[in-house]
Amino acid sequence: MQKFIIDGGTPLQGEVSVQTAKNAALPIIAACILTDEPVVIERCPHLKDIDAMLDIMRHLGCTAEFDGDDLKVCCRDVALNVINSDLTGKLRSSIFILGSILSRCRRAYISHPGGCEIGLRPIDLHISGLKSLAVKIADDCGVIYCDGTEMRGGVVNLDFASVGATENLMMAGALIDGDTTIVNAAREPEIVDLAQFINAMGGRVSGAGGSVIKVRGVAKLHGCRYRPMPDRICAGTYMTAVAAAGGKITVCGVVPEHVLGVTERLKQIGVKLTVHGDSVTASMQGRPRPLHKLETNVYPAFPTDMQPQFTAALAVASGSSVVVENLFENRFGYTVELAKMGAAITVKDRVAVVRGVPKLSGAVVRAHDLRGGAALVVASLAAEGRSVVYGVEHIDRGYEYLERELTALGAKIKRVDCVAGER
Ligand code: UD1
Repeated sequence: MQKFIIDGGTPLQGEVSVQTAKNAALPIIAACILTDEPVVIERCPHLKDIDAMLDIMRHLGCTAEFDGDDLKVCCRDVALNVINSDLTGKLRSSIFILGSILSRCRRAYISHPGGCEIGLRPIDLHISGLKSLAVKIADDCGVIYCDGTEMRGGVVNLDFASVGATENLMMAGALIDGDTTIVNAAREPEIVDLAQFINAMGGRVSGAGGSVIKVRGVAKLHGCRYRPMPDRICAGTYMTAVAAAGGKITVCGVVPEHVLGVTERLKQIGVKLTVHGDSVTASMQGRPRPLHKLETNVYPAFPTDMQPQFTAALAVASGSSVVVENLFENRFGYTVELAKMGAAITVKDRVAVVRGVPKLSGAVVRAHDLRGGAALVVASLAAEGRSVVYGVEHIDRGYEYLERELTALGAKIKRVDCVAGER
């Protein structure tokens, strides 16, 4: 186990490049099962969540190896092993793999992924969607048994525009007879990226990025090289760190439209932003202004995965803000830790009232989930004095080389091994 030691209060300065998007790479890795030929995923991030997905792939008989930053995956033979809870417990989004296994093998067995720190994470939309494609599904003692021997295209009307369910169904439709139409599909950029990847393998997906996606099943897909999109949440995290700690940074390798939901809000709290091609420069002087209301919602609205980091910046705003979390029912757990740094946040159900304080003070805190952990880092960068952030393993699920990048921006952050028995 490791911890971050952060000496805060230094404005950030310099340039940072964003990593490849974890949430694009994960479904793309799962989609490699759709072909028996080798696939190279360029600049695949080295992250705990990616490792967990690769463990599942290897459990199914696929090979997956990094060659520098390129990930080489080959799913020549896919074994229909039960994906047990040891594997699904490490990665809630492991359920995304059902669609690609079913499309390729017509059978799949996976343990229920269960809930997680930020909410229940139900999978009813995935299950009912697959049933619309004539998959027979039985749940026995937490293992989901799927029989797709009669699978064929169909129309799936999602009650909610779930990212994972949309991705699962796109993969499910790729190799089956007929057309699969997903109505009320999620519109996140990661969906568009997955569609482009499937098409790069010879698939026929259209409409991604809109609310109706059509997948025409093909007989076979081939291998390819593919570079997934940049990580819009990492980009947003760096920009929000400037909002909290002050300074001026340039975030490179961004798709500016992907981060509009965040940058619009950053402007409202006083961050100055300029865009040059794929770089965004963010600068901030003084305390952030409060926000009347910040609500998370599906793309292109403000993303739930940025809510904790943004709330950390609002914790030092010059007034009170209201933050409403519409996606996950339990995503304010980190505010208990922020309170140890002097933040004044009251939470009731899915609403947080954030009374800005002039400054936060360094404290010993613990991350319990990925983005909540990022929020603690943002707050520690802004705080006066030293903070110790435990639970770095959660942050490592989604941020590659975080302390290296922040150090390059002038932050005083060190990764230190915890001694036996510490916390
Ligand atoms: C993905 C992202 C995650 C992000 C989330 C919302 C990945 C690997 N993860 O997660 O970082 O926070 O989108 O942008 O890409 N729901 C149901 N039933 C279902 C599926 C979802 O009720 O069958 C609910 C969830 O509980 C949640 C909401 O729908 O309240 C959004 O979930 P969803 O869009 O599916 O998120 P994920 O794909 O799990």
